[in-house]
Amino acid sequence: MPTSSKIAVFYDTFRELSNLVHSSENVDEVLELMVWKVTEALNAKGALLRILNLDTKEFELSAAYGLSESYLSKGPVTQQSIITDVYKQKPFVIIDDVRTDKRIQYPKEAYQEGLRMVLDLPLVFRDHIAGLLRVYFPASRQFEVDEVDFAVALAQQCACAIDKARLIGEQQARYDQLALQTEKLSALGRMAAGIAHEINNPLAGVLLYSSNLIKKIPDDSLLKEGMEIIIRETQRCKIIIQGLLEFAREQQPKKMLTDINQIIDRAVCMLENEFRLRHIQLERAYSKDLKPAMLDGSQLQQVFVNLLLNAAHAVDQEGTIEIRTRSDSAGEHLIIEIQDSGCGIPPENLDKIFEPFFSTIKDGSGLGLAVSYGIVRNHQGELTVKSQPGKGACFTITLPLRQ
Ligand SMILES: Nc1ncnc2c1ncn2[C@@H]1O[C@H](COP(=O)(O)OP(=O)(O)OP(=O)(O)O)[C@@H](O)[C@H]1O
Ligand SMILES: [Mg+2]
Repeated sequence: MPTSSKIAVFYDTFRELSNLVHSSENVDEVLELMVWKVTEALNAKGALLRILNLDTKEFELSAAYGLSESYLSKGPVTQQSIITDVYKQKPFVIIDDVRTDKRIQYPKEAYQEGLRMVLDLPLVFRDHIAGLLRVYFPASRQFEVDEVDFAVALAQQCACAIDKARLIGEQQARYDQLALQTEKLSALGRMAAGIAHEINNPLAGVLLYSSNLIKKIPDDSLLKEGMEIIIRETQRCKIIIQGLLEFAREQQPKKMLTDINQIIDRAVCMLENEFRLRHIQLERAYSKDLKPAMLDGSQLQQVFVNLLLNAAHAVDQEGTIEIRTRSDSAGEHLIIEIQDSGCGIPPENLDKIFEPFFSTIKDGSGLGLAVSYGIVRNHQGELTVKSQPGKGACFTITLPLRQ
């Protein structure tokens, strides 16, 4: 083929594939087309694409063209056997003879398949090799610069397609997990609301009658102390029921234009003593140009008190809590992050901490986060957490700026 028409083929192929990488959400379709087109454009015998499985450290076959089933069904291909340090420095590697090169894990089978020479193109994302595009030739040959440039550019497109698929997959998993959590918490919320309603009225009766009775009991009576305990414990039950009702979103927020930084400062003010006693350093990084948002200030203040108290418990003694506020790039959401340097949350608890009554703290009621979650959801917002044991936790509240 004359050089000019070869370059035209490369150009058309590259354009077609890079359009597909950007428009298609089906990564398998893109990769299948990649191996087919690269084989044809380079006049090769076949090509295959392997992606590194981070758990097993094996290169898994993702797409292949022009190679027999029996050749493709050889055993697993391990990272160490086919990738050497050379691949980290070079955008391509040529293997002149499949029979003698150590980077060919199954030389005998390769030779029987009619393969003689290989062009390897490592797929690099973010400084590590995450895959390999391997093009096989039936005879030894020289490569022109244009051919290699074309193959390297295609490999970069492959890397983009795989990276995009990975991001879409991660996002999907996050949404699935959020949807599951929301569903679970709303079922719990309905149950909590039912129980709270049933208990609220009798409790109000107990409190009313015991408050009246205590007035009639002389101060020196032995009954007095017992009655005081009844009243105190009933009031504690009322607070818990109140918390359950808030978690069940029974308390509609009374929204007005509110400066979120001011609300956080009020919550901090209430807890300053707690922070001082525990030698906790508080750092505030507030965005100065946040627009006021329609929020229920006192409900959100309660959320910040809950989150900051939890952070203080997690830090225990000597550590830092950082509060950051900002709006997202589109100016549609307020984002508030509360990060602590505390004990962190084990992965198996991450799904449970927003459930009512889940607590690992002595004397904790396990309602703080459940209530906070209810309040934030009632503002059409989201409350999420990221944490690793021993590395602290970061709670993020996202609230819509426009109602
Ligand atoms: N910042 C944090 N770091 C580590 N663990 C946390 C953090 N925040 C919450 N947790 C975990 O989540 C659990 C639930 O928190 P939640 O605020 O709902 O209840 P609690 O703090 O135990 O009790 P209370 O109802 O008094 O707030 C905690 O017991 C703790 O295990
Ligand atoms: Mg708490």
